[in-house]
Amino acid sequence: MKTILIAGGNSGIGLQAARDLLADGHQLILLGRDPRKGEAALASLGTATDRASFLAADLSTHGGVRDAAQRVLDQHDRIDALVHTTGVFTSQESRTTDGLHPFFAVNYLSRYHLTQLLLPVLRQAGRPVVVMMTAAVPPTDDADFARFPEFAPFDFGRDRKPIQLANHHYAAHLARAEPGLATAVVNAGAAKTDILRIAPWYMRAGAKILGPVLFDSVETSAHNVVEATRRNDWLTPLYWGKPGRFEQHTPITLDTTTTQQLMDTSHTLTGA
Ligand SMILES: NC(=O)c1ccc[n+]([C@@H]2O[C@H](COP(=O)([O-])OP(=O)(O)OC[C@H]3O[C@@H](n4cnc5c(N)ncnc54)[C@H](OP(=O)(O)O)[C@@H]3O)[C@@H](O)[C@H]2O)c1
Repeated sequence: MKTILIAGGNSGIGLQAARDLLADGHQLILLGRDPRKGEAALASLGTATDRASFLAADLSTHGGVRDAAQRVLDQHDRIDALVHTTGVFTSQESRTTDGLHPFFAVNYLSRYHLTQLLLPVLRQAGRPVVVMMTAAVPPTDDADFARFPEFAPFDFGRDRKPIQLANHHYAAHLARAEPGLATAVVNAGAAKTDILRIAPWYMRAGAKILGPVLFDSVETSAHNVVEATRRNDWLTPLYWGKPGRFEQHTPITLDTTTTQQLMDTSHTLTGA
């Protein structure tokens, strides 16, 4: 039985991954911001809830991440897998109390920060796994990181790619820095979840019309995360770009100088 922490596990693709991994007999910690959604998520898991707990935390701030990590460290000696399906979808300019854009803080930096703080318990696992979910962003060296980490003023069209690609750089860094730890980035595809709740109205309207035709099922979007978490036979670091197709993957090989610069900045921002 593995102990698996799913950040974003109270909703959407993370909750579906939780359902599938619980069915395999694993022990789950679901982390999310909204306690009511957390309770509803646990209730939806039915009789398996004796192996699942909910941890309410706001990962958009450094303090929120530190508090969440401390609570995990207080209760667990070993974490076998850490799955990051937290995410916000916003194209508006706004800032967290740390002065960062929420899309950057949640969709990248919280993954770096929480993982770094949980390395002591991840190292206790036989083959620890860290999986990060993004949109469809193949691991290439063509992104412009000149605006990293401020991204001010936020420009969704321009900033989306380097923010998501920072996950791939972190996966590459971790695989080098932590021998034995397996890292992956998984494309969510397009699934009908809560992710567009603060998106502009026209995007929500478009998703409503096109969704039934174009969207993946939540089960398909969760499939590669679930397989990467339950299986031990894949090489690291990997990117899964096709939802539902675990056999199709791409090795993450990126410019090491860029990776180091991004990791140095992430370390300076978080202290972790
Ligand atoms: N669905 C898609 O089509 C799609 C497309 C591209 C990428 N993705 C990515 O796939 C991942 C899963 O998203 P989803 O579609 O399953 O959407 P979702 O249902 O909205 O799930 C997002 C999760 O992130 C959590 N979260 C957001 N802000 C947080 C914060 N500040 N602190 C802690 N937790 C926070 C949410 O918790 P609360 O609900 O409690 O706030 C929720 O559990 C995300 O990384 C998303 O960016 C999804």
